[in-house]
Amino acid sequence: MNSPTSTQALASAQTVVRTWPAEGVARAPYWIYSDADIYLKEQRQIFQGANWHYIGLEAEVPEPGSYKTTWIGEQSVLLTRGEDGTLHAMLNRCAHRGNMVCREAFGTAKKLYCVYHAWSYQLNGDLSHAAFQHGLRGEGGLPKDFDKADHGLQKLRVASYFGLVFATYSEATPPFEEWVGVVAEGIRRVCHKPLKVLGYDTQRIHANWKAYHENPRDSYHANILHTFYGTFGLSRQNQESGMVLDTTGKHVYFYTKAGTEKEGKDFQETSSTLRSVNDGLKLKDPSILKWTDEFDDGVSVQILTLYPSFVLHQIANSLATRQLIPRGPNEADLVWTYFGYANEDDTLTQTRLMQANLAGSAGMISVEDAAVCEMVRKAVGDGQTGESFIEMGGRDLTSGGSHKLSERAIRNFWHNYREDMGL
Ligand code: FES
Ligand SMILES: [Fe+2]
Repeated sequence: MNSPTSTQALASAQTVVRTWPAEGVARAPYWIYSDADIYLKEQRQIFQGANWHYIGLEAEVPEPGSYKTTWIGEQSVLLTRGEDGTLHAMLNRCAHRGNMVCREAFGTAKKLYCVYHAWSYQLNGDLSHAAFQHGLRGEGGLPKDFDKADHGLQKLRVASYFGLVFATYSEATPPFEEWVGVVAEGIRRVCHKPLKVLGYDTQRIHANWKAYHENPRDSYHANILHTFYGTFGLSRQNQESGMVLDTTGKHVYFYTKAGTEKEGKDFQETSSTLRSVNDGLKLKDPSILKWTDEFDDGVSVQILTLYPSFVLHQIANSLATRQLIPRGPNEADLVWTYFGYANEDDTLTQTRLMQANLAGSAGMISVEDAAVCEMVRKAVGDGQTGESFIEMGGRDLTSGGSHKLSERAIRNFWHNYREDMGL
């Protein structure tokens, strides 16, 4: 039999029917991670849809005229602080012919200049000047009815919450605090004082962005995959812990209190099967484990995830935001921004810098997260067959309660994702 021509192959690929498994939120079909059409639809309906997206810290644009370039999905965006101190967010895409206006990661400016044809913009995105608008010696120039007010950078709504800055394309997105619901308390707890940036770490993950987004929502894996957590006691399944999910199921945080172990026969039996619990291991220099209970609540780890692409973590005294940036169906960037407080003492800052080694691209705890995302990608291949099984703690959106041995927050992610995507 002749092999199909490329046109035939394309035609048959286009007729693939995408049907979500009948089990609903307790399954995710593997094509959801690799399908190019799905990826494009996500850009429009999730990243440009009615959601807030993290774009930076207020501390990153500290002065009037400060700007930062970043991303929402595939779109380059700008965060600026105007002369009056107001924050603005806008597309970093010239209103003339689409060139990137600001190219540096950070800067200060009185005006934003596009190098291509020298259109310039005010810090709020309004067009200030179009070069040769009136032509030269009676030739050239823009039409007489050209109105600068119609040709500014496309503006986004912006919200600042306890020093974290978010933007949205949509007028329909609820006010930020309402959108986050009860999970806002996890932000207020960590960001309760003016912040200062301590450093950055960026990694390219060779996997779909959703595979990473599921990971910090997945409290089931934390004390199993991460050897460092279990072995050195920063987070264990038999410690006092819990999950807080907002009423929409979009946002979640988990917390664990080190040193609150409750021994029990079932934990002892399970622990013996976990590679992550190894009481025989000791660190030669255990100083990285010395942490201060700076929030005075005993919580050693709090991992907070906002739909669809933001994480705020407290791991001992390491504090950081993580921004997830999709780079095509099979790749994503993860930007880690480590921070402390503007007025903290140097000893605490030094502790945070040392404990930054727990997180990040090569972090003693977090190195495994990107690794499993990439291994999943390799194992599911093109995703044309198979689906994940998400029944830890139950099969629906409410089952699993607030226990950490649960995939409830992942089921809630897929519920919201399907709503946004119309799937
Ligand atoms: S593309 Fe920016 S001025 Fe022409
Ligand atoms: Fe993890």
